[in-house]
Amino acid sequence: MRAVDIIRKKRDGGCLAPEEISSLIRGYSAGAVPDYQMASFLMAVYNNGMRDDETMALTQAMLNSGARLDLSGITGIKIDKHSTGGVGDKTSIILAPLMAAMGLKVPMIAGRGLGHTGGTIDKLASIPGFSTEASPEDIRERLKTVGCSISRQNGAIAPADKKIYALRDATATVESIPLIAASIMSKKLAESLDALLLDVKTGSGALIKDIQGARKLARLMVDIGNSAGVKTAAVITDMDAPLGRAVGNSLEVKECVSALKGKAAPDLMEVTLVLAAWALHLADSVSEEVPVRTMAGPVVAGYKNEVFDYLEHADAFKKFAEFVDAQGGDPESVFKLSMLPAAKEIKTIESPWEGYIKKLDAFAVGHAAALLGGGRDRMEDEIDLSAGILINKKPGDKVAKGELLATLHTNDTSRLKEAGEVYLSGIEITERDLPARKLVLDVVV
Ligand code: URA
Repeated sequence: MRAVDIIRKKRDGGCLAPEEISSLIRGYSAGAVPDYQMASFLMAVYNNGMRDDETMALTQAMLNSGARLDLSGITGIKIDKHSTGGVGDKTSIILAPLMAAMGLKVPMIAGRGLGHTGGTIDKLASIPGFSTEASPEDIRERLKTVGCSISRQNGAIAPADKKIYALRDATATVESIPLIAASIMSKKLAESLDALLLDVKTGSGALIKDIQGARKLARLMVDIGNSAGVKTAAVITDMDAPLGRAVGNSLEVKECVSALKGKAAPDLMEVTLVLAAWALHLADSVSEEVPVRTMAGPVVAGYKNEVFDYLEHADAFKKFAEFVDAQGGDPESVFKLSMLPAAKEIKTIESPWEGYIKKLDAFAVGHAAALLGGGRDRMEDEIDLSAGILINKKPGDKVAKGELLATLHTNDTSRLKEAGEVYLSGIEITERDLPARKLVLDVVV
């Protein structure tokens, strides 16, 4: 099978057979298909989409490009949570130790931040000594002793995805539903999970901006997971505004520590509790061998109360300290957050307006944080782990003229002015008090 014929078929809107997809991915992994051919295939998929069976075949081919974690000797329910990415989206760092404190086993493989979105791996890199490199043996050991592990994708797990993701980044083909679904699910299926919880973000700061697209992506990933024998559910959450108050790597880790003690911004706490409640429900559905259901209000509330106990009684925070220690992080840093990188320059942004914050555009905030040094344009770029933004006024808050809207943190003052302007451009003000923002928009099981 020639790569050029497969590309032509997709370019002309045709449907590819599983063998055509696997031959292309095998060829690319082996170096026989060059980047320029894969890039044009990705653009053909971006433009013409894929049928669900094609996306499933692509996921399978990418999964088969590497090894699977062997977790057969690990007792307990193996579960992971994965987000499609956003601004201030730090819940993985709270959820992994929280789920471990609740007795679940979490072999999380996470990504680095790109463009306006942050990445769990960069956030954790701001903890002194913390290592996100892990061999399968390291992951198994941490699951036995701590209950959770967060590591970066290495060459062993879905290597085709690693290579393709870097190419998508350079060829403007990231925001494609079949490509996102295959990328995420090939990595997650390699983790040998019993259950998987997906947080599909939608809004200005997400990869998929509209709710219809988010539902489609969620449905596709849930179907791929379930058909591979992994109990999968997706919660669709808002990413029109940043989550929590911190945006930027070390600032976000500090906010995670507050959340692990049960005290953080209401939107961050709510999304964390809902996701953790869903993780417990999925785990129950595995151990009790019952179908996953859309949970009614009182059931969700019951699970959320249970989760909150783990935060309030510091079990989750203690587990976080164990997790940091197990991954080489300085154990003292968890108690002494001043050991995390801090920016030299802090600039305040005061409100030029009076009223209520109607909109705080997640994309603009993410872009401003990237200008301060907290984000990367290309996969290989270095970032400043201390750079970012602390948000003082969130959507729905009342603000007076001259009141503090946010503080900008950076070591590079050259783009401070521009970052401030971008931040302000993301704000809309209204005279009227607004109803509370809906954070959980849908659930797909
Ligand atoms: N996260 C991934 O791992 N892959 C994507 O394509 C998008 C988000």
